[in-house]
Amino acid sequence: MSIIVKNRLFTLNTANSTYQFTADAYGILRHLYYGTRVDNTDFSYLVQQRDRGFSGNPADAGDDRTLSFDTLPLEYPVYGCGDYRESCLAVTHPDGSRALDLRFEDYSVFQGKPELAGLPASIADLKTESLQVRLRDLVSGLSVCLTYAVFAEKDVIARSVRIENHGEKPITLDRVLSCCLDFFQPAARDMMLFYGRHAGERNVQRSAILHGKLRAESTRGASSLHYNPATIVCTHDTTETTGEAYAAVLVYSGSFLISAELDQISQTRLVVGIQPENFAWRLEPGESFTAPEVLLAYSAEGLGCLSRRLHAFIDAHIIHGAWAGRRRPVLLNSWEAAYFDYDDEKLLQIAQSAAELGVELFVLDDGWFGKRNGDTSSLGDWYGNENKFKCGLPGLCRKINALGLDFGIWIEPEMISMDSELYRAHPDWMLAAPGRPPIKSRCQYVLDLSRGEIVDDLFEQFSALLSSCNISYVKWDMNRSLADLWSAALPAARQGELLHRYMLGVYALLQRLTEAFPNILWETCSGGGGRFDAGMLYYSPQIWCSDNTDPIARLAIQRGTSYIYPPSCVGAHVSASPNHQTGRETALALRAAVAASGAFGYELDPAKLSAEEKQEVVAQIQDYKRNWQLYAYGTLYRLESMRGQAWLRVAADKKRAILTYVQEGADANAPAQYLKLQGLDPMQTYHVLPSGQMLSGAALLHGGLPLPELRGNYPLVQRILEAT
Ligand code: DGJ
Repeated sequence: MSIIVKNRLFTLNTANSTYQFTADAYGILRHLYYGTRVDNTDFSYLVQQRDRGFSGNPADAGDDRTLSFDTLPLEYPVYGCGDYRESCLAVTHPDGSRALDLRFEDYSVFQGKPELAGLPASIADLKTESLQVRLRDLVSGLSVCLTYAVFAEKDVIARSVRIENHGEKPITLDRVLSCCLDFFQPAARDMMLFYGRHAGERNVQRSAILHGKLRAESTRGASSLHYNPATIVCTHDTTETTGEAYAAVLVYSGSFLISAELDQISQTRLVVGIQPENFAWRLEPGESFTAPEVLLAYSAEGLGCLSRRLHAFIDAHIIHGAWAGRRRPVLLNSWEAAYFDYDDEKLLQIAQSAAELGVELFVLDDGWFGKRNGDTSSLGDWYGNENKFKCGLPGLCRKINALGLDFGIWIEPEMISMDSELYRAHPDWMLAAPGRPPIKSRCQYVLDLSRGEIVDDLFEQFSALLSSCNISYVKWDMNRSLADLWSAALPAARQGELLHRYMLGVYALLQRLTEAFPNILWETCSGGGGRFDAGMLYYSPQIWCSDNTDPIARLAIQRGTSYIYPPSCVGAHVSASPNHQTGRETALALRAAVAASGAFGYELDPAKLSAEEKQEVVAQIQDYKRNWQLYAYGTLYRLESMRGQAWLRVAADKKRAILTYVQEGADANAPAQYLKLQGLDPMQTYHVLPSGQMLSGAALLHGGLPLPELRGNYPLVQRILEAT
């Protein structure tokens, strides 16, 4: 049993962690512990309650000046009860007052987990157990239902929240965050957040959590290129292989807030959820609001172990459907091969040479629809560009199929160009504030997906497109941030609901299309990795990681991504050299080694490769097909190295592993370098290929593998280890 309830003490156990909270004598839900698994312990003894000046006390505390919401570690803090730290819930009552005081009402424990209406969420298996705790406001009819789904074997707890209005008048929800983690002791004093920009996503910033708030957030209507909706908090001395670390991963793709602060008595508070800015939700009597799920994971063995727990969880419980756990076809995407400049003949030439190299799927990127020849027109007109395809889109698809290739296509459903048939028919379908010209971004505008009729229309259009020919892959792009937040379908008092309703519309469309076309492989994208989040992974088993395809730039982007997300979902392609984004020249072998970190493909015109390069590509594709299990699903170890970046993927049975090491530049007369491997079986002997050494797992783990002398700009070392 992973959930134990005794006298209002709630203990959630996973294989390696314990999470505990209690409803105290006042019914206040106090957080007590999250850390290494400890059985048979009531952590209430940790509470050190003292009178803190200027920290007020609830009325029912009487003369007890030590009981204060301002200082207690809490499970679900709210605004308006004297807690001045970042709260999870704030409301405005019908009379304009904002006070709120939640107390314990009841709980239930059951197998499985409830669905979250309209939202992506982790998928339970037979062993998943859930705890639901209901809190009720002392005065209004507002109640809060906290759900904790425990995935014991995976060391993950999935939290979510539902707010219900049992009163007789509407209540406005001013903020609803999904999760709070309060830490008693200085356990979590560092925060890792993942920041970036277009073509430079998910850089790692690790900094101390100090007084004053540290925030990763998006107000853009998408989780964004700029911050990822996931964080890791850890101790100052946590390393890749040692120390405590906690992850919070929001299963949501819209505007979000992650905030960490050190309070007046140096307790850390972390809150995660929907961005409160531009959010206000009117909850009518009898209605409920469900906030997105947050995945919590814990490791006492450093960041690497934490990432591996998240990878295993996301691969098993977020990614689902026909492509989960499967090898994805090696694809060639037309974007960097031709951009907008193509016709059917050119595409067929590219596809023909791709097929000769062993590519399995040809993806036609942007530019195939309406009269699109650049980024200024036709978004919304999802039918083939007659000037480009003499044989029509279905004809092109048939010809590609005849080459032995599957056919995939790019779409950008959420957008509209002013120069489009769709705009001419429905000029009022895009987001625009009354009387103001909307903000243009990449010459395009955003459809108001909060409106059901627009979602219905898009579903019809894309169903027709996907039924029109044999399309086996779809790349769903989204290339701008939302602005002009006003919907013609919402009254003035409900405009604060727009951003979340927009996300619900996107999810509804994804749900309907993925259900209607269950065998299609979906890859989402947002100007590269602008919606690289667990929400999108629920619908699309892979996400285009970045528009930057330079392998050296990708080292940082993919490493940052790997702290949270598994390699299987990382769209990574071999592109031309010099690279189109950076102008950097790199060897083909290096580009392939970096791209083989997950969903592997090419994004170049194969006709431009030399005969030797073509042979090399043939060998790369064969290698990927042989070793995909390791590349995409092998357990990932980020290795310590003096000079470059090294990572190892190890098979579940530890019998095979692939090591990749890339160094930026070489030194003359360099010191010898050794890589200490991880995750191998110390008792096995491994054959290291192609160097031919025979070394024990213990030697490789503790002595390390010597690297050869390296020369050139970006030397690469790859080794396959096979247990003898
Ligand atoms: C942005 C994507 O990230 C690119 O891969 C490409 O599909 C372009 N959009 C097309 O407009």
